[in-house]
Amino acid sequence: MNPLPAVARPRAREFAQQFPKGNPRYYTMCKVAMDPLYDAVYEALATTSQPLLDVGCGMGLCAFYLRECGLNVPMRGLDFDASKIAVATIVAAQCAPDIVFETSDARGGLPQHAGSVTILDILQYLALDAQGELLSAAAQRVSIGGKLVIRTSIEAPGWRFALSKAVDRAAAALSWMKASPVVYPRPETIRRVLEANGLHGTIRPLWGHTPFNNWLAVFERT
Ligand SMILES: C[S@@+](CC[C@H](N)C(=O)[O-])C[C@H]1O[C@@H](n2cnc3c(N)ncnc32)[C@H](O)[C@@H]1O
Repeated sequence: MNPLPAVARPRAREFAQQFPKGNPRYYTMCKVAMDPLYDAVYEALATTSQPLLDVGCGMGLCAFYLRECGLNVPMRGLDFDASKIAVATIVAAQCAPDIVFETSDARGGLPQHAGSVTILDILQYLALDAQGELLSAAAQRVSIGGKLVIRTSIEAPGWRFALSKAVDRAAAALSWMKASPVVYPRPETIRRVLEANGLHGTIRPLWGHTPFNNWLAVFERT
């Protein structure tokens, strides 16, 4: 893997200050401090110059983080949770007014787009057929020079996956997530759908210091 380009990595506490006090700020600080996700996404996208569509963007953390790292491509995020989009919109107005956020359900299809796509920690909220449709739609929007970056928990025997599932269920029970997980994808299914749409890439564990069974897929059109 290429080393992360030499940029100042956003510091968790300062980065979180941009978000409203309470749960959004606390969640953001913990997420940036402990999860290697956004650094991994930056590493994948750092050399791209294509617009980015972030599907299931939540409060827009990924887009804001990438922008602070210096990724100056047009960015657009969508999520079906209007309360998270409202937070993302407030933060964008203060920090990155050109990043666009909208409330939209990925099960209804994706908007027109050509470039890179990120799908981070949302596949498990979709039924299997909807996962396949979303993966195909995302792959079709990846242009030459763009990338598709997916992070997801993978179903597997063992404590990591059991803990991932338990935390996803708890997040829904506590209303932090609008929906409960439905089914967790398998790496071979992700690869099959993406390759059928002309993409090639890698899928690897992305655990960092977290206890979860998270994997990262980075695919591109060759
Ligand atoms: C665990 S959060 C991840 C948020 C963001 N991708 C990140 O990594 O910071 C999962 C997100 O997927 C969104 N989501 C779940 N199902 C969705 C759907 N059908 N359409 C759009 N967003 C969805 C949730 O509202 C939530 O914001």
